[in-house]
Amino acid sequence: MNKILVTGSNGLLGQKITDLALADNSIELIATSRGENRHPVKNGYHYIDLDIVDPQRLRETVAEYRPDVIINTAAMTNVDACEHDPEGCRKLNVEAVASLVELCEIYGIHLIHLSTDFIFDGKEGPYAEDAEPNPLSLYGQSKWDAEKIIQQSSCKWAILRTILVYGIVADMSRSNIVLWAKGALEKGQPLNVVNDQWRMPTLAEDLAQACLLAATQGAEGIFHISGKDLFAIHELVAAVADFWGLDKSLIREVSSSTLSQAAPRPARTGFILDKARSVLGYNPHSFQEGLELVDQQLRRQ
Ligand SMILES: NC(=O)c1ccc[n+]([C@@H]2O[C@H](COP(=O)([O-])OP(=O)(O)OC[C@H]3O[C@@H](n4cnc5c(N)ncnc54)[C@H](OP(=O)(O)O)[C@@H]3O)[C@@H](O)[C@H]2O)c1
Repeated sequence: MNKILVTGSNGLLGQKITDLALADNSIELIATSRGENRHPVKNGYHYIDLDIVDPQRLRETVAEYRPDVIINTAAMTNVDACEHDPEGCRKLNVEAVASLVELCEIYGIHLIHLSTDFIFDGKEGPYAEDAEPNPLSLYGQSKWDAEKIIQQSSCKWAILRTILVYGIVADMSRSNIVLWAKGALEKGQPLNVVNDQWRMPTLAEDLAQACLLAATQGAEGIFHISGKDLFAIHELVAAVADFWGLDKSLIREVSSSTLSQAAPRPARTGFILDKARSVLGYNPHSFQEGLELVDQQLRRQ
Protein backbone atom coordinates (compact mmCIF):
# COMPACT_ATOMS: atom_id res chain seq x y z
CA MET A 1 0.00 0.00 0.00
CA ASN A 2 1.35 3.39 -1.03
CA LYS A 3 0.46 6.07 1.53
CA ILE A 4 0.18 9.42 -0.26
CA LEU A 5 -0.40 12.79 1.40
CA VAL A 6 -1.62 15.55 -0.92
CA THR A 7 -1.52 19.25 -0.01
CA GLY A 8 -4.01 21.69 -1.53
CA SER A 9 -6.50 18.85 -2.13
CA ASN A 10 -9.39 21.32 -2.61
CA GLY A 11 -7.73 22.75 -5.73
CA LEU A 12 -8.17 21.73 -9.36
CA LEU A 13 -5.24 19.33 -9.38
CA GLY A 14 -5.80 18.22 -5.76
CA GLN A 15 -9.37 17.11 -6.46
CA LYS A 16 -8.35 15.23 -9.61
CA ILE A 17 -5.61 13.42 -7.68
CA THR A 18 -8.22 12.54 -5.04
CA ASP A 19 -10.49 11.08 -7.77
CA LEU A 20 -7.70 8.90 -9.18
CA ALA A 21 -6.39 7.81 -5.78
CA LEU A 22 -9.91 6.78 -4.68
CA ALA A 23 -10.17 4.54 -7.75
CA ASP A 24 -6.86 2.82 -6.94
CA ASN A 25 -6.94 0.20 -4.17
CA SER A 26 -3.16 0.27 -3.79
CA ILE A 27 -3.22 3.89 -2.58
CA GLU A 28 -4.07 5.11 0.92
CA LEU A 29 -4.87 8.81 0.56
CA ILE A 30 -4.41 11.57 3.10
CA ALA A 31 -5.94 14.64 1.49
CA THR A 32 -5.10 17.97 3.13
CA SER A 33 -6.13 21.52 2.34
CA ARG A 34 -6.88 24.82 4.03
CA GLY A 35 -10.37 24.77 5.61
CA GLU A 36 -13.23 22.36 4.94
CA ASN A 37 -13.08 19.51 2.47
CA ARG A 38 -14.68 20.67 -0.81
CA HIS A 39 -14.39 17.33 -2.62
CA PRO A 40 -17.90 15.88 -3.03
CA VAL A 41 -16.77 12.40 -1.89
CA LYS A 42 -16.02 12.43 1.83
CA ASN A 43 -15.38 8.72 2.50
CA GLY A 44 -12.63 6.25 1.68
CA TYR A 45 -9.74 8.50 2.70
CA HIS A 46 -8.59 10.85 5.45
CA TYR A 47 -9.16 14.58 5.09
CA ILE A 48 -7.16 16.98 7.26
CA ASP A 49 -7.63 20.74 7.47
CA LEU A 50 -4.00 21.80 7.01
CA ASP A 51 -2.57 25.22 6.23
CA ILE A 52 0.95 24.41 5.05
CA VAL A 53 2.35 27.80 6.04
CA ASP A 54 1.96 26.68 9.68
CA PRO A 55 5.16 24.67 10.23
CA GLN A 56 4.05 23.16 13.51
CA ARG A 57 0.73 21.82 12.13
CA LEU A 58 2.62 20.53 9.11
CA ARG A 59 5.14 18.74 11.33
CA GLU A 60 2.41 17.22 13.52
CA THR A 61 0.39 16.00 10.52
CA VAL A 62 3.37 14.44 8.75
CA ALA A 63 4.60 12.84 12.00
CA GLU A 64 1.13 11.41 12.68
CA TYR A 65 0.44 9.96 9.21
CA ARG A 66 4.01 9.17 8.08
CA PRO A 67 3.22 9.07 4.33
CA ASP A 68 5.51 7.38 1.79
CA VAL A 69 4.90 10.24 -0.65
CA ILE A 70 3.87 13.89 -0.35
CA ILE A 71 2.42 15.57 -3.45
CA ASN A 72 2.61 19.33 -2.92
CA THR A 73 -0.02 21.02 -5.07
CA ALA A 74 -0.80 23.89 -2.65
CA ALA A 75 0.51 27.24 -3.87
CA MET A 76 -0.39 30.86 -4.42
CA THR A 77 -1.25 30.24 -8.06
CA ASN A 78 -2.67 33.65 -8.99
CA VAL A 79 0.26 35.28 -10.79
CA ASP A 80 -0.92 38.88 -10.27
CA ALA A 81 -1.80 38.24 -6.60
CA CYS A 82 1.85 37.28 -6.04
CA GLU A 83 2.96 40.72 -7.32
CA HIS A 84 0.51 42.41 -4.91
CA ASP A 85 1.44 40.21 -1.93
CA PRO A 86 5.11 39.23 -2.27
CA GLU A 87 5.36 38.19 1.37
CA GLY A 88 2.33 35.88 1.24
CA CYS A 89 3.66 34.46 -2.01
CA ARG A 90 7.07 33.65 -0.50
CA LYS A 91 5.55 32.14 2.65
CA LEU A 92 3.43 29.67 0.70
CA ASN A 93 5.45 29.08 -2.47
CA VAL A 94 8.94 29.01 -0.92
CA GLU A 95 9.03 28.81 2.90
CA ALA A 96 6.34 26.11 3.20
CA VAL A 97 8.23 24.09 0.57
CA ALA A 98 11.40 24.40 2.67
CA SER A 99 9.44 23.02 5.67
CA LEU A 100 8.17 20.13 3.55
CA VAL A 101 11.68 19.36 2.31
CA GLU A 102 12.96 19.21 5.88
CA LEU A 103 10.22 16.77 6.89
CA CYS A 104 10.79 14.62 3.81
CA GLU A 105 14.48 14.42 4.72
CA ILE A 106 13.72 13.47 8.33
CA TYR A 107 11.12 10.78 7.52
CA GLY A 108 12.50 9.50 4.19
CA ILE A 109 9.44 10.70 2.25
CA HIS A 110 9.36 10.98 -1.55
CA LEU A 111 8.45 14.62 -2.33
CA ILE A 112 6.59 15.36 -5.55
CA HIS A 113 6.35 19.09 -6.11
CA LEU A 114 4.40 21.04 -8.71
CA SER A 115 6.15 23.82 -10.57
CA THR A 116 5.44 25.94 -13.63
CA ASP A 117 6.44 27.09 -17.12
CA PHE A 118 6.59 30.61 -15.60
CA ILE A 119 10.12 29.85 -14.34
CA PHE A 120 11.12 30.45 -17.99
CA ASP A 121 11.25 33.79 -19.82
CA GLY A 122 9.33 32.54 -22.86
CA LYS A 123 11.98 33.48 -25.42
CA GLU A 124 12.51 29.96 -26.76
CA GLY A 125 9.73 27.53 -25.87
CA PRO A 126 8.93 24.65 -26.08
CA TYR A 127 11.39 23.87 -23.31
CA ALA A 128 13.23 20.71 -22.25
CA GLU A 129 13.85 19.95 -18.56
CA ASP A 130 17.45 21.20 -18.65
CA ALA A 131 16.64 24.63 -20.15
CA GLU A 132 17.85 27.62 -18.16
CA PRO A 133 15.17 29.25 -15.97
CA ASN A 134 14.78 33.03 -16.03
CA PRO A 135 11.52 33.98 -14.30
CA LEU A 136 9.86 37.28 -15.23
CA SER A 137 7.39 37.52 -12.32
CA LEU A 138 7.42 37.09 -8.53
CA TYR A 139 5.27 33.98 -8.95
CA GLY A 140 7.80 32.48 -11.36
CA GLN A 141 10.68 33.51 -9.12
CA SER A 142 9.02 31.96 -6.05
CA LYS A 143 8.45 28.66 -7.85
CA TRP A 144 12.05 28.64 -9.14
CA ASP A 145 13.40 29.42 -5.64
CA ALA A 146 11.39 26.48 -4.26
CA GLU A 147 12.77 24.24 -6.99
CA LYS A 148 16.33 25.19 -6.03
CA ILE A 149 15.66 24.28 -2.37
CA ILE A 150 14.29 20.90 -3.45
CA GLN A 151 17.10 20.23 -5.93
CA GLN A 152 19.71 20.91 -3.25
CA SER A 153 18.01 18.72 -0.66
CA SER A 154 18.97 15.19 0.30
CA CYS A 155 15.42 13.82 0.11
CA LYS A 156 14.07 11.78 -2.76
CA TRP A 157 12.28 14.28 -5.01
CA ALA A 158 10.52 14.84 -8.30
CA ILE A 159 9.52 18.22 -9.70
CA LEU A 160 6.64 18.23 -12.17
CA ARG A 161 6.41 21.47 -14.12
CA THR A 162 3.14 22.21 -15.84
CA ILE A 163 1.32 24.79 -17.99
CA LEU A 164 -2.13 26.45 -17.98
CA VAL A 165 -4.14 23.71 -16.29
CA TYR A 166 -7.84 23.41 -17.25
CA GLY A 167 -10.74 21.29 -16.09
CA ILE A 168 -13.65 21.30 -13.71
CA VAL A 169 -14.04 20.21 -10.09
CA ALA A 170 -16.52 20.95 -7.31
CA ASP A 171 -16.65 24.35 -5.60
CA MET A 172 -13.65 25.88 -7.38
CA SER A 173 -11.90 28.85 -5.77
CA ARG A 174 -10.58 29.95 -9.15
CA SER A 175 -11.50 29.52 -12.78
CA ASN A 176 -9.29 28.53 -15.71
CA ILE A 177 -9.01 29.57 -19.33
CA VAL A 178 -11.47 27.04 -20.74
CA LEU A 179 -14.26 27.74 -18.22
CA TRP A 180 -13.59 31.49 -18.36
CA ALA A 181 -13.77 31.64 -22.17
CA LYS A 182 -16.82 29.36 -22.36
CA GLY A 183 -18.67 31.31 -19.63
CA ALA A 184 -18.00 34.73 -21.14
CA LEU A 185 -18.82 33.72 -24.73
CA GLU A 186 -22.06 32.07 -23.62
CA LYS A 187 -23.08 35.36 -22.02
CA GLY A 188 -22.22 37.18 -25.26
CA GLN A 189 -19.43 39.15 -23.60
CA PRO A 190 -16.67 40.48 -25.87
CA LEU A 191 -13.28 39.06 -24.85
CA ASN A 192 -9.87 40.70 -25.21
CA VAL A 193 -7.48 37.81 -25.79
CA VAL A 194 -3.74 38.06 -26.33
CA ASN A 195 -2.27 36.88 -29.63
CA ASP A 196 1.40 37.13 -28.59
CA GLN A 197 1.57 34.38 -25.95
CA TRP A 198 1.79 30.66 -26.70
CA ARG A 199 0.99 27.78 -24.32
CA MET A 200 0.39 24.03 -24.24
CA PRO A 201 -2.77 23.77 -22.07
CA THR A 202 -2.85 20.83 -19.66
CA LEU A 203 -5.92 18.75 -18.84
CA ALA A 204 -6.11 18.48 -15.03
CA GLU A 205 -6.73 14.71 -15.32
CA ASP A 206 -3.50 14.26 -17.30
CA LEU A 207 -1.51 16.16 -14.70
CA ALA A 208 -3.07 14.16 -11.84
CA GLN A 209 -2.20 10.95 -13.70
CA ALA A 210 1.41 12.14 -14.08
CA CYS A 211 1.60 12.84 -10.33
CA LEU A 212 0.45 9.32 -9.52
CA LEU A 213 2.76 7.77 -12.13
CA ALA A 214 5.66 9.62 -10.48
CA ALA A 215 4.48 8.55 -7.02
CA THR A 216 3.94 4.87 -7.77
CA GLN A 217 7.17 4.57 -9.78
CA GLY A 218 9.28 6.42 -7.21
CA ALA A 219 10.37 8.75 -10.03
CA GLU A 220 13.15 11.25 -9.35
CA GLY A 221 14.23 14.43 -11.15
CA ILE A 222 12.48 17.10 -13.21
CA PHE A 223 9.59 16.26 -15.56
CA HIS A 224 7.79 18.51 -18.02
CA ILE A 225 4.07 17.71 -17.97
CA SER A 226 1.61 19.52 -20.25
CA GLY A 227 -0.84 18.94 -23.04
CA LYS A 228 0.65 18.14 -26.45
CA ASP A 229 -0.87 21.00 -28.51
CA LEU A 230 0.77 24.43 -28.70
CA PHE A 231 -1.59 27.37 -29.22
CA ALA A 232 -1.46 31.14 -29.25
CA ILE A 233 -3.95 32.13 -26.52
CA HIS A 234 -6.42 33.63 -29.03
CA GLU A 235 -6.33 30.35 -31.01
CA LEU A 236 -6.97 28.42 -27.82
CA VAL A 237 -10.02 30.56 -27.01
CA ALA A 238 -11.21 30.18 -30.62
CA ALA A 239 -10.93 26.39 -30.25
CA VAL A 240 -13.12 26.62 -27.12
CA ALA A 241 -15.66 28.70 -29.08
CA ASP A 242 -15.66 26.20 -31.97
CA PHE A 243 -16.07 23.24 -29.65
CA TRP A 244 -19.19 24.63 -27.97
CA GLY A 245 -20.52 26.39 -31.09
CA LEU A 246 -20.09 29.89 -29.61
CA ASP A 247 -19.70 33.24 -31.39
CA LYS A 248 -16.03 33.73 -32.30
CA SER A 249 -16.63 37.32 -33.42
CA LEU A 250 -16.68 38.21 -29.69
CA ILE A 251 -12.96 37.40 -29.50
CA ARG A 252 -10.80 40.51 -29.92
CA GLU A 253 -7.10 39.88 -30.47
CA VAL A 254 -4.90 42.19 -28.43
CA SER A 255 -1.21 42.36 -27.60
CA SER A 256 -0.04 41.68 -24.03
CA SER A 257 1.15 45.26 -23.65
CA THR A 258 -2.45 46.55 -23.84
CA LEU A 259 -3.53 44.59 -20.73
CA SER A 260 -2.57 46.25 -17.49
CA GLN A 261 -1.61 43.04 -15.70
CA ALA A 262 0.61 43.33 -12.63
CA ALA A 263 2.84 40.39 -13.57
CA PRO A 264 4.68 40.10 -16.89
CA ARG A 265 4.03 36.78 -18.66
CA PRO A 266 6.49 34.74 -20.75
CA ALA A 267 5.69 34.93 -24.48
CA ARG A 268 6.21 31.39 -25.73
CA THR A 269 6.45 28.47 -23.34
CA GLY A 270 5.35 24.91 -24.11
CA PHE A 271 7.23 21.77 -23.11
CA ILE A 272 9.09 18.96 -24.81
CA LEU A 273 7.37 15.89 -23.35
CA ASP A 274 9.80 13.15 -24.43
CA LYS A 275 11.19 12.49 -20.94
CA ALA A 276 7.75 12.25 -19.30
CA ARG A 277 6.57 9.93 -22.07
CA SER A 278 9.57 7.62 -21.99
CA VAL A 279 10.32 7.55 -18.24
CA LEU A 280 6.84 7.87 -16.70
CA GLY A 281 4.71 6.50 -19.56
CA TYR A 282 2.85 9.85 -19.65
CA ASN A 283 0.40 10.02 -22.54
CA PRO A 284 -1.65 13.23 -22.58
CA HIS A 285 -4.98 13.81 -24.30
CA SER A 286 -5.24 16.23 -27.22
CA PHE A 287 -6.92 19.58 -26.46
CA GLN A 288 -10.00 18.42 -28.39
CA GLU A 289 -10.21 15.24 -26.29
CA GLY A 290 -9.73 17.31 -23.12
CA LEU A 291 -12.66 19.57 -24.08
CA GLU A 292 -14.80 16.48 -24.72
CA LEU A 293 -14.05 15.23 -21.21
CA VAL A 294 -14.83 18.62 -19.65
CA ASP A 295 -18.09 18.72 -21.64
CA GLN A 296 -19.13 15.28 -20.34
CA GLN A 297 -18.37 16.38 -16.78
CA LEU A 298 -20.36 19.61 -17.19
CA ARG A 299 -23.36 17.62 -18.48
CA ARG A 300 -23.26 15.39 -15.40
CA GLN A 301 -23.44 18.34 -12.99
N1 LIG B 1 -3.30 26.17 -12.66
C1 LIG B 1 -2.32 26.40 -13.52
O1 LIG B 1 -2.56 26.88 -14.64
C2 LIG B 1 -0.90 26.04 -13.18
C3 LIG B 1 0.10 26.27 -14.11
C4 LIG B 1 1.43 25.96 -13.77
C5 LIG B 1 1.70 25.41 -12.53
N2 LIG B 1 0.70 25.18 -11.64
C6 LIG B 1 1.02 24.62 -10.33
O2 LIG B 1 0.24 23.47 -10.12
C7 LIG B 1 -0.12 23.37 -8.74
C8 LIG B 1 -1.60 23.11 -8.60
O3 LIG B 1 -2.33 24.13 -9.21
P1 LIG B 1 -3.92 24.16 -9.21
O4 LIG B 1 -4.35 24.64 -10.55
O5 LIG B 1 -4.49 22.90 -8.69
O6 LIG B 1 -4.15 25.34 -8.17
P2 LIG B 1 -5.43 25.71 -7.31
O7 LIG B 1 -6.66 25.21 -7.98
O8 LIG B 1 -5.30 27.15 -6.99
O9 LIG B 1 -5.21 24.82 -6.00
C9 LIG B 1 -4.35 25.15 -4.97
C10 LIG B 1 -5.02 24.70 -3.71
O10 LIG B 1 -4.13 24.97 -2.61
C11 LIG B 1 -4.92 25.46 -1.56
N3 LIG B 1 -4.12 26.28 -0.66
C12 LIG B 1 -3.83 27.59 -0.79
N4 LIG B 1 -3.09 28.01 0.23
C13 LIG B 1 -2.91 26.94 1.03
C14 LIG B 1 -2.24 26.74 2.26
N5 LIG B 1 -1.59 27.74 2.86
N6 LIG B 1 -2.26 25.52 2.81
C15 LIG B 1 -2.91 24.52 2.22
N7 LIG B 1 -3.59 24.64 1.05
C16 LIG B 1 -3.58 25.84 0.47
C17 LIG B 1 -5.99 26.29 -2.22
O11 LIG B 1 -7.05 26.45 -1.32
P3 LIG B 1 -8.34 27.36 -1.64
O12 LIG B 1 -9.04 26.64 -2.75
O13 LIG B 1 -9.09 27.34 -0.37
O14 LIG B 1 -7.82 28.70 -2.05
C18 LIG B 1 -6.32 25.43 -3.43
O15 LIG B 1 -7.35 24.53 -3.11
C19 LIG B 1 0.39 24.63 -8.08
O16 LIG B 1 1.59 24.34 -7.40
C20 LIG B 1 0.68 25.58 -9.21
O17 LIG B 1 1.74 26.46 -8.92
C21 LIG B 1 -0.60 25.48 -11.94
